[in-house]
Amino acid sequence: MGSIIVEKSALQGELEISGAKNSALPILAAVLLTDEEVILHKIPVLSDVETMIDILRTAGKNVVFEKETGTVRVSGGILHTHVPYELVRKMRASFNVLGPIAVIMGESSTPLPGGCAIGVRPVDFHIEGLKKLGFDVNYDHGEILAKRGNKPEEVAVYLPFPSVGATEHIMSVAAVLPGVTVIENAAMEPEIVDLQDLLNEMGANISGAGTSKIMITGVKKLHGCEYTVIPDRIEAGTYVLAILTTGGEGLIKNVRTDHLDALWAVLEKTGAIVKKGENSVEVKSWNNWRGCDIDVMPYPGFPTDLQPQAIVYLSLAQGTSMITENVFKTRFAHVGELVRMGANIKIKENTVIINGVERLQGTTVMGTDLRATAALVIAGFAAEGETEVTQAEYIFRGYENVIEKFAKLGGKIRYVPGGVPEI
Ligand code: EPZ
Repeated sequence: MGSIIVEKSALQGELEISGAKNSALPILAAVLLTDEEVILHKIPVLSDVETMIDILRTAGKNVVFEKETGTVRVSGGILHTHVPYELVRKMRASFNVLGPIAVIMGESSTPLPGGCAIGVRPVDFHIEGLKKLGFDVNYDHGEILAKRGNKPEEVAVYLPFPSVGATEHIMSVAAVLPGVTVIENAAMEPEIVDLQDLLNEMGANISGAGTSKIMITGVKKLHGCEYTVIPDRIEAGTYVLAILTTGGEGLIKNVRTDHLDALWAVLEKTGAIVKKGENSVEVKSWNNWRGCDIDVMPYPGFPTDLQPQAIVYLSLAQGTSMITENVFKTRFAHVGELVRMGANIKIKENTVIINGVERLQGTTVMGTDLRATAALVIAGFAAEGETEVTQAEYIFRGYENVIEKFAKLGGKIRYVPGGVPEI
């Protein structure tokens, strides 16, 4: 795997945010529900998106990805009902094609997705939901087999935790199953609303996304449509925290500022200067920003996907901060790497206690997942000297043109494929 090398930089300037990865992935899974053409706009060029497109092609769909415009055209029917291990291993969100393929073809099978650095990542809520929708779901040597059965006229699915993936999976499948399905304690993320809007554009009858109760009245068939995904709130939040952590200032464009209220609330507490428009935000670092406490929660709480980046920002704040991770309770693989850069952080169960330090020192650190790698790159821009972030390819899973975008903000950054050669 390669490395990203960064040197101390004060990030400043203007930046345009790409389409949301965590909208594009469930939406690409949902287009399996029709064999008519679906045209999607603002799909970001990311390795996770490429993996999902590979899955659609493996299933038999025709997919054209015009990377220069971010337009994806999907058409054709499903020919194969098994999703290969090497694709599910690369990206666990691919598990969400199990239901759509089974509901159209009568059955489907996919490997049980594994865990990753941020947690065990079980899929029991997905499976329980599919069973409630009348599917037979069995395990066989690491594979999950789903067979469509008879769905009761009225079904209520209660999620023990507002799982984003389980909400999306159940909502997509229920869209083409007879009768009414209600999802209680549903995830409320903006990407769930985006998926509902896409499905309704395809002829579905869904309401309530964005609240904890989603009502789906099944329709016989979904048709093609044209749809544009929302901007990526996590990409936007990452660049905002990068600019502030490096003492810079910037204008971030094409961002739904109403999707990041929890971040703005934290930044204001720390003394950062934040001027929000509807689709853009101007941020300016304040020299001695203050620490503050953060409770990571499902939306509309502070997003877990900005937790690593927030830890870097607060590592250089005045005073003490506490971050409690209530979504992925062990998502702290990046903390050890930050301590190696001079951060003062202690982990106590699912909480980190951060005592702000004057400076971080550049060194070699290791990326462990998409957001942790982004956080280490930000730490490198703030640290004295040079930082090499190894296993850098994680960042390309979720940040379109990330090297160019940071360079445009004045970041001294380069990507070395295959790592820096040992001298
Ligand atoms: C989605 O993952 C996102 N991925 C994640 O973003 C994000 O961190 C997460 O939601 C939380 O917001 C995509 O949208 C592709 P969950 P997902 O199901 O759906 C537990 C990124 O960096 N759970 O909401 O997998 C689970 O263990 C990625 O872009 C079960 O116990 O997350 C976790 O503790 C990382 N059983 C909690 O629920 C289940 O069946 C939330 O997980 C499902 C989940």
